[in-house]
Amino acid sequence: MGSRDKPWGGRFSEATDPTVERFSASVHFDRALARYDIRGSIAHARMLARAGLIEPAEADALCEGLLAIGEDIEAGRFEFDPALEDIHMNVETRLRERIGPVAGRLHTGRSRNDQVATDTALYLRDAARAARRGLALLQQVLVERGREHVDTVLPGYTHLQRAQPVRLAHHWLAFVSMFERDAQRFRDLDRRLVHCPLGSGAIAGSTLPLDRTDTARALEFEGPSANSMDSVASRDGALEMLSATAICMVHLSRLAEELVLWSSAEFGFVELADAYSTGSSLMPQKKNPDVPELVRGKSGRAIGNLVTLLTIVKGLPLTYNRDLQEDKEPLFDSVTTLRDCLEVLAGSLATLRVQEERMALAARDPMLLATDLAETLVREGVPFREAHEAVGRIVGHCVEKDLDLGALSREDLRAFHEAFPAGADELLSLERALEERSLPGGTAKVRVLEALEAASARLEDEIEAIEELGALDSLPALRPGEPQGGSA
Ligand code: ARG
Repeated sequence: MGSRDKPWGGRFSEATDPTVERFSASVHFDRALARYDIRGSIAHARMLARAGLIEPAEADALCEGLLAIGEDIEAGRFEFDPALEDIHMNVETRLRERIGPVAGRLHTGRSRNDQVATDTALYLRDAARAARRGLALLQQVLVERGREHVDTVLPGYTHLQRAQPVRLAHHWLAFVSMFERDAQRFRDLDRRLVHCPLGSGAIAGSTLPLDRTDTARALEFEGPSANSMDSVASRDGALEMLSATAICMVHLSRLAEELVLWSSAEFGFVELADAYSTGSSLMPQKKNPDVPELVRGKSGRAIGNLVTLLTIVKGLPLTYNRDLQEDKEPLFDSVTTLRDCLEVLAGSLATLRVQEERMALAARDPMLLATDLAETLVREGVPFREAHEAVGRIVGHCVEKDLDLGALSREDLRAFHEAFPAGADELLSLERALEERSLPGGTAKVRVLEALEAASARLEDEIEAIEELGALDSLPALRPGEPQGGSA
């Protein structure tokens, strides 16, 4: 099909060059917007009838045709034609084939510019809710596994050097906190998607008496957008999605990195289930953590996608420019990547074997209690800097003489600082090191149990809130080859 057969063909006397047709087509990816495009068109058609711009019977015909096309698309029966450029024209052209010339009334007072902005806002809303849902399910796994491992102790690390002992539940709750903030970012961006672009037309609105409030309400927006030029020019909703996704992917990547590290022979802290590992084609002994490695690797795409769209938008004069069509692939890619990463990480963690003994062995390193020794002196009235210095000398002595810090007697310690209290109590105790860290946010058992309870209560509320919003289990298919209905 050349330009002359296209909906705008009147002005053209030559057909589009086939290379240009291929170059500018977007339907191979923007078909992911199909269900939103149909929904938007139905709302628009109904409004046109209510505003007296088309007959009610015409609106009925338009809506019936659109619904049938939507069913065909979801069922994978729709033949997309790249010569028709994008999803909008594919749907409209099919509608004309189906219901005849009345289809020509659908685009009354509408441009693909406000149409695509509306479709994208509707898509972002579902994507934000799906991300929250995936995050809540992952957090639930972390909380459940945390409950099993309140008494599993491992070294906490700074600089990847053993620092202080912590409960494994406490360690995983750190990620729960990160994911909770990630979910809030998705909720926040969803809350900003409340203004409907429809009725903005190509740039300046319409001379026709459209009812913008009607379409906005029908599509569950609070109301029409405030400025028609902003509506067709802006992509900050997509940018927020890419940004929230990039941050979240970075958190997932850090969790994934620990699974990689911990499943190495050097750590030996965890073993991934067979179902979440792969073998080597060459080395028969290998069991590789490909799943977390891929999550770590895919965070790169999410970061890249954010940079891509920022770069696309930054130099554009108002309002719509075709560059903006380039928003979709990075957006769809990030949303799908996040969905998949959340799912495989939740599965990996749910089936992970924890090698408690290996963790305990590492946590029994008495050097992890050096801070506690210094704090013992502080309790005896010694300034912290002085205490730190004294314990530093003790540690240096142990390293030099190859001694176990835990084997030093009270007298040995008092030789370094006389304020070490006399008495029978063990100065170095792993149990006390954990239990005395009972400030809010600490690793003492009571705090960790409280934190698990609180997190699980918040997660229940979150899941209820998402269900109320009617969050989708599945997003529309975004990758070539995926069924259009999407897979959960
Ligand atoms: N496929 C286009 C996009 O995604 C739809 C809007 C086209 N508008 C236009 N004036 N060519 O940006």
